[in-house]
This record gives sequence, structure tokens and C-alpha cells, in this order.
Amino acid sequence: MSKKINKKNPLWGGRFEGSTDSLTQSFSASIDVDKELYAVDIKGSIAYAEALKEAKVITPKEFQKIKRGLIKILAEIKDEKFEWNESLEDVHMNIETALVRKAGNAAKKIHTGRSRNDQVSTDLRMYLSLKIDETLKNITLLQKSIVKQAEKHTSSIMPGFTHLQIAQPVTFGHHLMAWYEMLDRDFARLADAKHRMSVLPLGSAALAGSRYRINRNFLAKKLGFKSLSRNSIDAVSDRDFVIETASSLSILGVHLSRVCEEIVLWSSSQFAYVNLSDEVCTGSSIMPQKKNPDVAELIRGGSSKTIANLMGLLSLMKNLPLSYNRDMQEDKAFVFDSLNYINDSLVLLSIVIRGMKVNIKKMEAECKLGQITATDLADYLVEKSIPFRKAHEIAGKIVAHAESNGMQIFELEISELRKFSKLISEDVYSYLDPVESINSRNLIGGTAPSQVKKEINVAKKNLSTR
Ligand code: ARG
Repeated sequence: MSKKINKKNPLWGGRFEGSTDSLTQSFSASIDVDKELYAVDIKGSIAYAEALKEAKVITPKEFQKIKRGLIKILAEIKDEKFEWNESLEDVHMNIETALVRKAGNAAKKIHTGRSRNDQVSTDLRMYLSLKIDETLKNITLLQKSIVKQAEKHTSSIMPGFTHLQIAQPVTFGHHLMAWYEMLDRDFARLADAKHRMSVLPLGSAALAGSRYRINRNFLAKKLGFKSLSRNSIDAVSDRDFVIETASSLSILGVHLSRVCEEIVLWSSSQFAYVNLSDEVCTGSSIMPQKKNPDVAELIRGGSSKTIANLMGLLSLMKNLPLSYNRDMQEDKAFVFDSLNYINDSLVLLSIVIRGMKVNIKKMEAECKLGQITATDLADYLVEKSIPFRKAHEIAGKIVAHAESNGMQIFELEISELRKFSKLISEDVYSYLDPVESINSRNLIGGTAPSQVKKEINVAKKNLSTR
């Protein structure tokens, strides 16, 4: 049962005669989620108070009082001495109310020409920029752990897969560096999202702009924004920057899930390509022999949250009329959840990869399965001037012949091979060797050890500039 509360809201209660229903109050409160914004909110308010002083809306003395009060509040929150109050709805009103207690009448002027609509957008942009910085750092951490493993395995051979079927030999280092590339795009996407969100909404007030002559360029500079919003209605309506961040995080989440899926597969006893360190595995409560790749599985599974959060944000914004609508308050829970998941996952996955023991022998042995060099056989025939389509057909027939005898193509006698083409001679066997196969893929982006080494150097240079 909800009941009436006997107090009016001190910040917006003026036009109300009745008091708020208690369920309305708790239903509309967002403090549990948005208190995360406290540090940027305070930074924004100090800058805004200074702009009010410059515009002669408040006196220098009042500015000092406000500033001191806000700094005290910041310390109290950091020391966990601040009392958050649900009846004050959100982080902005909690801080403003506390400021009134500390700075008296001066504090009652801080919101002059400002609305929570431009305030929350400013706060969220600042907060997400900082969080993106943290994410970029963690992407780099993960990329470094990948490069470190790749460096040890520029010549280790493994079966490469398509359709999860053995396809062609590759180097393990090359496969690891594919993960690096995926993460490099994630890095660029997030850096780009951060760049695009650097537009200051403050000064837009509720939706129409402020009547006070606050210096928006000064505010942008103080708060680290690259430019000013050019339309006050758009400025308070826009949540593209939240969606872009969540979108980049969901692509990153999908990448992490694919990497983790490979780690789960490779650490199974059927594959046994890698052995995971104990610190990232757990046992079973019934099967004593089990060592499960839980961290990799949880990262793989948890990535679904990033997709759900993106869908949540898109459907939250779809059909909303301009400008601000209270629905938009829900944006934070979605994007904060994605950020938390991604940052934990990046750190944990870098531990998984750093501690991964690689079973080179097993991977090498499996390069003798699946007729892995059949493409090289076709390439051999092409070099003997047979057109590729024809060469493909001949190689296919040789594969079928080998399979019907339970053999691999490299095990066939030369006399057997020559039954399919008189152009085949002894030199074919080097083409059927997996090591020769990887060495021959020696062009930019290819799997040859020398190319992989080159790419690792490019990567290391790239990482050292961050
Ligand atoms: N807590 C709100 C949010 O996050 C702040 C803006 C509220 N504005 C309003 N007019 N009620 O969106």
C-alpha cells in the first residue's frame, strides 16, 4: 500500500498543493543508479557557479561559498559520510539540497538559468568520457596480453577452421593476432564515440536556452568539451551518445564472447590446445576431475547483457517526442551495466590469456588431419599450368580417393597421385606439408611467420603510443 507523504519537494514543490504519494516518490527516484555521477555533477556545478559569477548573477563571495560547499560535499561522498535521500529523487537534487545546508542563500542561486535537463546531459557526457578512457585502457591491457602470447607462437602451427571444420594450417600467433585486430576496431569505435560526445549542452536550460549571459565557451573549456551544442532543443533531447557508447560496447561484448568461445573449445579435452590456469577456473561439486573454464563462459554469456542494454536504450528512445522526457532517466542503468560488465571482462580475459599454456604438439598433430593441405595441392597443379577450377576438381578427386582408403593426401604414393594427373611429380610433397603451407602465405596479412612477426611489431608500436 502506498501512502501520502506530508512534505513537499523543496526544489520543485512550489506549484503543488498536495504532497507526493510515497510510491510515486520511490518510483521516480533514480538516486540508486545516478549517484555514480556525483563527481562530475559537482565539477559541473563549480564551473557553472563560476560562469554565474562572471555573468554577475552571483557575487564573488557567493561563488566562493558555493565552491567551498561543493568541495566539502565531494569529500563527504568520497568518505561515504554523505546521506543520500530517496525523496530528493536524483543526484542533482541531493547535492543541491546539501549545498543549501552548507552555503545557505548563495546555494539557492546555483540553479539560475540551469535545468536538470541540461545538467544531466552534461554530467552523463563527462562521466561516459571518463569511463570510455578506462575501457580504452583495459582494451589495451587485453591487447598487450594477446600480443605477448602471439610473440611466443609466431611459428607454432595449428589447424585453421571454417565452419568449425579443419580448413588450412595457420600459425597460432596469427590466430591470436586476429583477436588483437577485433579489439583494435573496438578501441577506435569507443574513441570515436568519446570524441563525438564532447559537445557541451549546458546553457540549454530546460529546452529553450538560458536568458542569463553565461559564457558557454568558458564552461566548455573548464569542463573539457570540444564544442558547444548549437540547438538547445536537440541538446536536451539527444541520447545518441549513450546509444553509441552502448553500441560500441555491445560489438566489443560480441567480440569477447567469440574469443571466449574459442578458449572454451580449445581447453576441452577433445581439443586440448590450451590449458587454463587454475585462477580462472572452478571445479564441480560432484565430479572430482572437473576443471571448468567458468570465467571464459561467464564472459561469453554476460555479453548478452550488452546487447540487451543496447536494445533497451534504442527502444527507450524510439518514438519519444522532443525535447526532454522523464523516460530518459532510465538510460543510465543500461549503459552503466554494459560498462561494468565490459571492464571486468577485459581485465579478467587478459588474465586468462596471460596464463594460458599452449599445447603446441597437439595442435601440430592435428595439422595432419582433415586433408588440411588440399588447397595447396590445387595450388601446386595451378603452378603446373592447370586452370584453378580444373585443379580444384583434380585435388577433390585425390581427396576422395585418400578418404575412401582412410588416408591423408600426403600419405599417398607418387604413383597413386599420378593416376589423377601426369603433371604431378615428387615436388608435390613439399606442397602437402603444413609448415610449407604456412610459409607460402607470405604476403601482407598472411599467416607466414615472417608476416606475423611484422604485424606483431606494428601492433607493439601502436600499443606503445597509447
Ligand atoms: N534524473 C533525471 C534524469 O536522469 C534528471 C532530469 C529530470 N528533469 C526533469 N524535468 N524532471 O533524466
